[in-house]
Amino acid sequence: TLPTHVRLVEMGPRDGLQNEKQVVSTETKVELIARLGAAGLPAIEATSFVSPKWVPQMGDNAEVMRRIQRLPGVSYPVLTPNLQGFEAALGVGATEVAVFGAASESFSRKNINCSIADSLKRFEPVMAAAKAAGVKVRGYVSCVLGCPYEGEVDPQAVADVAATLYQMGCYEVSLGDTIGVGTPGKTRQMLDVVARQVPVGKLAGHYHDTYGQAVANIYASLEAGVAVFDAAVAGLGGCPYAAGASGNVATEDVVYLMNGLGIHTGIDLDKLVDTAGWISERLGRSPASKVARAVLAK
Ligand code: HMG
Ligand code: MG
Repeated sequence: TLPTHVRLVEMGPRDGLQNEKQVVSTETKVELIARLGAAGLPAIEATSFVSPKWVPQMGDNAEVMRRIQRLPGVSYPVLTPNLQGFEAALGVGATEVAVFGAASESFSRKNINCSIADSLKRFEPVMAAAKAAGVKVRGYVSCVLGCPYEGEVDPQAVADVAATLYQMGCYEVSLGDTIGVGTPGKTRQMLDVVARQVPVGKLAGHYHDTYGQAVANIYASLEAGVAVFDAAVAGLGGCPYAAGASGNVATEDVVYLMNGLGIHTGIDLDKLVDTAGWISERLGRSPASKVARAVLAK
């Protein structure tokens, strides 16, 4: 049986915009976050505290955090790759952060400039500082269904990194198909291996839609018992260290799927689609998602 409730974690302002070539104003980011909150998203990843030399678009991280209106009951996590990022995030009132590792060595080096083992060592002081400050930490594993540099990724490598993050104190581990190459059978196999080491209730699916398989992969994940998914409004985005990868599955595509299955998300599809139209217009394009296009064409 499928879960009755699903929690969606909105990626638009972070994963969605981090790879955007044109400068997106802080004002637009803040308004995007407000609109997503008003549409009922329970968690909105707001920005990332990474090096502005590496990801210039996130260079206004502190300003975004200072300016957003935080709705009660909504969390606004931010990425923190190391203690420097964590301290900067804490300084502007972050109450939830995320550390991000990978199941592939080459991707780890390209993305965060260190090996998998070194990244996990860097996360230890972040976990300790977060615990001391009462800040929740989410963990990510990238390349769970394939790597842009290494190709196939062993599900056991995914399970090992996920289990380490969970044992370190991450309350949830989000499994990233960074380049969107997964298919449902492979997704299910990977999840079954990971779930031997991390309770399935502590896993989230983070699927990019490069090959159009993300909704199918979410369905396979629901069948495996996963009830948390990451998604980006209008299907915004891509990863700066995974050339050609497209954005996360569109939030409105996931909400439409859940509505059809009678699974509760608490999200207002109309407001979400309006937001997809609004941000796409701001970026000078049409929404990448089928659901937004279909609804907006009416
Ligand atoms: P590094 O160069 O190895 O770091 O970068 P370092 O410690 O040697 O420091 C070098 C310089 O960076 C210093 O500045 C530091 O101050 C600065 P300098 O003295 O040269 O002027 N620095 C920082 N500045 C701001 N914030 C920080 C920070 N840390 C150091 N936190 C680092 C290591 C991780 C910082 C770098 O590689 C980086 O920023 N990488 C970007 C990673 C990123 O944002 N990737 C995209 C997000 S992950 C993703 O999209 C995947 C996900 O969606 C899941 C999926 O789809 O798979 C989550
Ligand atoms: Mg991602």
